[in-house]
Amino acid sequence: MKDKISQTFKRLFNSEPIIAFAPGRINLIGEHTDYQEGLVFPAAVEQGICVAIQKNNGPSCRLYSEDFQEEFVFDISSFSPKKGHWANYIMGVVSQFQQAGYNLEGFDLVFGGNIPASGLSSSAALSVAIGTALTELFRFTITKKSIVLYAQKAEHLFAGVKCGIMDPYASAFGVKDRALLLDCRTNTHFEVEVDFGDHSLVLINSKVKHNLADSAYNKRREACEASVKILQATYPEATTLRDIPIKDIEKVGQILPENLFAKAKHVITEIDRVNLASNALHAGDLTVFGNLLKESHRSLSKDFEVSCPELDFLAEKSWTLPGVIGSRMMGGGFGGCTINLVSKAQLENFETAMYTAYLQKFQITADFIPVALSEGARILE
Ligand code: GLA
Repeated sequence: MKDKISQTFKRLFNSEPIIAFAPGRINLIGEHTDYQEGLVFPAAVEQGICVAIQKNNGPSCRLYSEDFQEEFVFDISSFSPKKGHWANYIMGVVSQFQQAGYNLEGFDLVFGGNIPASGLSSSAALSVAIGTALTELFRFTITKKSIVLYAQKAEHLFAGVKCGIMDPYASAFGVKDRALLLDCRTNTHFEVEVDFGDHSLVLINSKVKHNLADSAYNKRREACEASVKILQATYPEATTLRDIPIKDIEKVGQILPENLFAKAKHVITEIDRVNLASNALHAGDLTVFGNLLKESHRSLSKDFEVSCPELDFLAEKSWTLPGVIGSRMMGGGFGGCTINLVSKAQLENFETAMYTAYLQKFQITADFIPVALSEGARILE
């Protein structure tokens, strides 16, 4: 991928680029908790986005997407979001750098990726790769955490998705063979060594992406914020659902209207599940860990209502198969992938059974994506 991007850059712009890479991410558990200052448990994967960049001594930024085979040009001193366009992630990060006071000049850029499915956060990978590339190109001193925050803000302002911090954070801070137990209140993490022994993690790409995803995402976030407002009468110190103790869940059920309660309950119980899951991994108890994955899925599907028939089918079907420790929908929902922890000895049978069942039910050929926990964003030499 790196060579291809670099060659395209040289062909189009006739100069030697700097190359930055940022990976996509998986999430073991902790879904829709990040924007309520909860806990999440993501990791970077091997696949990601490569960006080739160089200054052009002019006022314009000339962009080329290798995957869309499409160019886009904007003026460094005057630009605005363009609905639904990939260039938003780039302009969004540029805009954040400028707002923070960094002086940027025109540049040329080519990017492309090998992220094989939706739900692995290619948008965060792109934004973090851009932040990493700009930092190197202009020799700025910017911490990884600032790049993460710029990437998140860029997505809010230029793509209109009020996402949490998990995706860019995992893309920036990923470490080989480790997951990040990330506290989205303090924006700090512990690295947790992950060794599933005789089991492997595999994603199943549902190959659906329901187009209400972005607006539904923002609505879920608003529902959580509405719950917090109501709960503040009883919990005056609470600023997010993170502040509501799991032991009070029944009491919360008496305070909130039914539809809000279901959403709040997901977040409060999911934060608890992240704690339990990290303890289970620490103790090497895969059975407990697997059961938490299943509970997480049920809660995302029934209470938080961000699943869809395809993801429900993939999760529920997998639970009936031999060798499956646990599985669940992963990421924002409404399509994308499920994450599955499966015994290596049963992996082939598992894939055959899932492929056949999914094809029969939805006439879709599922893809199976093995994942390895990997290093975060970096400059490639
Ligand atoms: C998307 C968002 C993240 C997070 C997940 C759900 O991936 O970008 O911030 O909220 O959904 O856990």
